[in-house]
This record gives sequence, structure tokens and C-alpha cells, in this order.
Amino acid sequence: MALLQLILLACVSVGMAQDFASPDTDILAELKELKAKMEKLERENEAQAVKLRALETRLNIRESQLEEEQPVLMQLKSTVEEVKRQNADRPKVAFSATLFGAGSQHTGPFNTETTLIYKKVITDISNNYNPATGIFTAPVRGLYYFRFSGHAWGNHYMAVSLYKNEQRICSAYDEQRSGNANSSNGVTLLLEEGDRVYMRLWTNRQIFDDDGNHSTFSGFLLFPM
Ligand SMILES: *[C@@H]1O[C@H](CO)[C@@H](O)[C@H](O)[C@H]1NC(C)=O
Ligand SMILES: *[C@@H]1O[C@H](CO)[C@@H](O)[C@H](O)[C@H]1NC(C)=O
Repeated sequence: MALLQLILLACVSVGMAQDFASPDTDILAELKELKAKMEKLERENEAQAVKLRALETRLNIRESQLEEEQPVLMQLKSTVEEVKRQNADRPKVAFSATLFGAGSQHTGPFNTETTLIYKKVITDISNNYNPATGIFTAPVRGLYYFRFSGHAWGNHYMAVSLYKNEQRICSAYDEQRSGNANSSNGVTLLLEEGDRVYMRLWTNRQIFDDDGNHSTFSGFLLFPM
């Protein structure tokens, strides 16, 4: 402000001096214009200062919000890491196998109940199913799901059961007189680590399979417990 007044004063004096020498009315108009411009600039400056202050206030609010959110974010981050760790530690167990290997398409009849050996492994994550014995061994305590399907062919009766250790759990059978049929069953089991699950063919019964994979035995861990 002081500088502006000084400039104006100086200009006015020069203008007055010139007025005496050679009257020039335009200089006053120019000065007015200059003054108006400077005032306009000042107003604009002030308006910008107001805007800046508003921005500053908003920034401060945002900053304190971020500070408040910090612990929530940290909590979220550690939860995500925990879930990731649990997922990585979680045992991955699943298998599927079919009965047919090389050789005969019929298994049985035998004069005693016989453990079925599903020779062709389709999937076995973590290798808990043994294709040499037909036995699945639970690697951890948990809830497991098993299913099986038995194919009966021609005039042969098919009957199989799923066992948990020495205990019969569920069966599927079919007394088909002619043609063929499929019978299946499934079960959810709570197993302890080391529990064995396998399939048995009943005495004097048969089960059929070929490269069509009709007779299967599958299981997987739903979740550890
Ligand atoms: C049993 O399933 C097999 C496929 O695995 C199929 O070829 C056959 O036709 C089915 N039998 C009946 C009676 O549906
Ligand atoms: C039987 O399983 C094998 C893989 O082991 C697959 O290539 C084939 O297509 C399957 N056959 C049928 C009829 O599903």
C-alpha cells in the first residue's frame, strides 16, 4: 500500500509538473487506470489467499483423518498377513483314482471281502492315497469328504463299501440282471491324523471298470479341525 501511494504521489507530481510545462490530461486517466488495475490485482490476491486458507483447512482435516485411519489400516494389514499365513499353512489334500489298471476289467468275485485297489490315479495332491494298497491315510485331523461310484456289468452283482479304519461307513450296490448300471454314494467324515479310508468289495460280488473310468474313488479335505 505504502509503495503504491509513493508511486502515485511521484506520478502525480510529475503529471502536475508536466501540466505546467505542456498540459497533458491523459496522464491522470492513465494513473487512474493503473490504480484500478492494482486494486483489481490486490482483490484477486486476497481471493486467492482465501482459497489457499480453505485448502489448508481441508488438508489439515484430511491429515488428521489419515492419522485416525492409520491404526485401522495397520489392523487390516496384519489381518491380511495372518490370513495369508493360514492359507499357506493349510494342508492341501485331494485325490481321485479309478479302478482299472492293466489286465482284467472285472474285479471279483472272491470268496472273501477284499480291499479294492484303485490303480489309476487321476489326482493326488500331497500323496495321501496309496495306489499300491488302495488306502487313503489322513495327514491331519479334519473334516473330509469321500465319494465313490461302482459300475455293474451284465449279470454280475456289484456291491462295495467305504471303510474308515475297521468300520464300514456306507455302501453302494446293484443287483443288475441284464445291461449295466452305476451306483454311487458319498460321505463326510471327521478323521484323526492317521485314520485310514478305503473301499472293499463284498464277498462273491464283482465290480467293473475299463478305460471309461466308471468306477472311481475320490476324497478331499474340507478343512482341518
Ligand atoms: C453308467 O455309467 C457309464 C459311464 O461311466 C455309462 O456308459 C453307462 O451307460 C451308465 N449306465 C446306465 C445304466 O446309465
Ligand atoms: C479316463 O481318464 C483318462 C485320464 O486318466 C482320460 O484321459 C480319459 O479321457 C478318461 N476316459 C473317459 C471315458 O472319461
